[in-house]
Amino acid sequence: MDCEVRPGIHWVGVNDRATDLFEGLWPLPGGVSYNSYLVVGEKVALIDSVKAQFSEELVENISRVVDPGRIDFLVVNHMEPDHSGALPLLRRLARGAEVLCTPAAVPMLARFYGIDQGVRAVEDGSELDLGGKRLQFYHIPFVHWPETMATFEETQGVLFSCDAFGGFQALDGVLYDDQVDVAAYEDEILRYFSNIVGMHTRPVLRAIERLAGLQVRVIAPSHGLIWRGNPGHIVDLYARWARMEGRAEVTLVYGSMYGHTRRMAEAVARGVRKEGVPVLVLDASRVHVSYLIREAWKRKGLILGAPTYDGGIFPPLEQLLRMLQRKRLKGRVVGCFGSYGWHGGAVGRLASRAGELGWKVVGEAGFQGAPTPEDLAAGEELGREVARHVREG
Ligand SMILES: Cc1cc2nc3c(=O)[nH]c(=O)nc-3n(C[C@H](O)[C@H](O)[C@H](O)COP(=O)(O)O)c2cc1C
Ligand SMILES: [Fe+2]
Ligand SMILES: [Fe+2]
Repeated sequence: MDCEVRPGIHWVGVNDRATDLFEGLWPLPGGVSYNSYLVVGEKVALIDSVKAQFSEELVENISRVVDPGRIDFLVVNHMEPDHSGALPLLRRLARGAEVLCTPAAVPMLARFYGIDQGVRAVEDGSELDLGGKRLQFYHIPFVHWPETMATFEETQGVLFSCDAFGGFQALDGVLYDDQVDVAAYEDEILRYFSNIVGMHTRPVLRAIERLAGLQVRVIAPSHGLIWRGNPGHIVDLYARWARMEGRAEVTLVYGSMYGHTRRMAEAVARGVRKEGVPVLVLDASRVHVSYLIREAWKRKGLILGAPTYDGGIFPPLEQLLRMLQRKRLKGRVVGCFGSYGWHGGAVGRLASRAGELGWKVVGEAGFQGAPTPEDLAAGEELGREVARHVREG
């Protein structure tokens, strides 16, 4: 693997194939990488590190390029422990190394790791000459923590963008976008975007605007592929996802205990298709919410089906709604349906929650017990109605 990204700039990161849940929440079937970079001028800087349990492997990778004791600067773009976890070990190995971070990260360094000596806060737009290499620091607050910054190496045009432009999926024997079929990675990048940074789309768009003025040749994020073939592509993807427009298609997510709501889901999906609009049907009890968020992010139409449970929404759908509210997904055209046993309540609640999120609710179809032919016809009509709105924008 060619780890020299540009002359004097080396990837020294690691693949994590052992963590089941990123942040204790998000499944990682294909793993994830923690990208760390060594910038070697007359002085040596390490940009971000890795999760604590991979510290030794990071040090081994650094040692292949320089003696870790030679590191002069530990640049902390982001305090989340998947990138800062190796700091305690690095500080022991590189005794003289100064930690560079935003002012907002200073108290966090003290409270996360007890690091309060040899720390320098860098101002937004400030520069550091390494001798032959030059770093610039740009604060990008809330992409996705308040203390986050990006670092730009000016002589080689490499932007170390941290979590911005990152994605899930370990690096399988490659590092660069021009070595893979990028389309095959996009789903995992979108899952990362929607799950991790999705909540902060405005700061993402602001950061993209801010960094657009730089002469960027390579985008080197802290997770996933390094973009040297077509760095514009990942910027376009992030910008599009941040705008949340969604394709003119429908995501139908339902839950069902005994099959009544599921039977209705089939009818609703048929209705969507009858209008010539593609629809993806997902069972919220079986598909992890991480994927449901991603699929809802992709499409303009969102149809939710839930039976009534303890007077409210069947829990898997309740969880999806709560997550989409957290992630602040906007601009969806919505239909709601579901079965109830005696009094109901789920469908009305689905609709009012959707309304609270600013989504446009265009139809509801609640029914008692098993769906009758009339119920199924109403379900099909609900699907058609959502599809028409989606198609006509
Ligand atoms: C644990 C539990 C709680 C329920 N709570 C309610 C309720 O509060 N109100 C209601 O009308 N029906 C309630 N039901 C009945 C279901 O909504 C009803 O059986 C419905 O047809 C289930 O649809 P499904 O086959 O799609 O799961 C409850 C069912 C279960 C198993
Ligand atoms: Fe992060
Ligand atoms: Fe991260």
